[in-house]
Amino acid sequence: MRAADIADQLTEVLVTEEQIEEKLEELAARVEADYAGKDLVLVGVLKGAVMVMADFSRRLNRQVTMDWMAVSSYGAGTKSSGVVQIRKDLDTDLHGKHVLIVEDIIDSGLTLSWLLENFASRGADSLEVLALLRKPEAAKVEIDCRYLGFDIPNDFVVGYGLDYAERYRNLRDVAVLAPHVYR
Ligand code: PRP
Repeated sequence: MRAADIADQLTEVLVTEEQIEEKLEELAARVEADYAGKDLVLVGVLKGAVMVMADFSRRLNRQVTMDWMAVSSYGAGTKSSGVVQIRKDLDTDLHGKHVLIVEDIIDSGLTLSWLLENFASRGADSLEVLALLRKPEAAKVEIDCRYLGFDIPNDFVVGYGLDYAERYRNLRDVAVLAPHVYR
């Protein structure tokens, strides 16, 4: 669905489907050039990264392998604790591989900070991050993100993989959710 289909539930469209497509094309060209001749593994972080992984990977005019991690934050009961539990680990041995973690959004940065540390001991030849969205005002830790789509304000955003109570992931655009939906 497009933002126009559910306009009553949104206050603002931040990034349109067309802008996402254009940006992914640009990022794919950069990744192709940077990883020429190298074994590249894309690692998607479920569930939010499903859309960006699907669209980004299909824009790459080269072979890649794909794997997935499922993680959840726990401990102290809040996401902001920064403690992460692995619910599904990789099936891939990363030794000798060049790894690109694919994320939909860097919010506080805690998930990626934990993941990067966890991956550091897995023997990859290189490790980089691609994220479609980043909220600079929400950062609790700085993440070195080589391939970034868009910086966005610290609003409650949904769409293109991002959910509210598991809904809105199939929205094609990225938009701000209207407060009346979640209050
Ligand atoms: C989202 C997103 C990132 C994480 C970013 O996932 O996909 O993985 O939050 O937030 P952070 O920078 O504050 O750590 P979420 O935990 O909502 O799970 P989901 O992808 O299954 O929706």
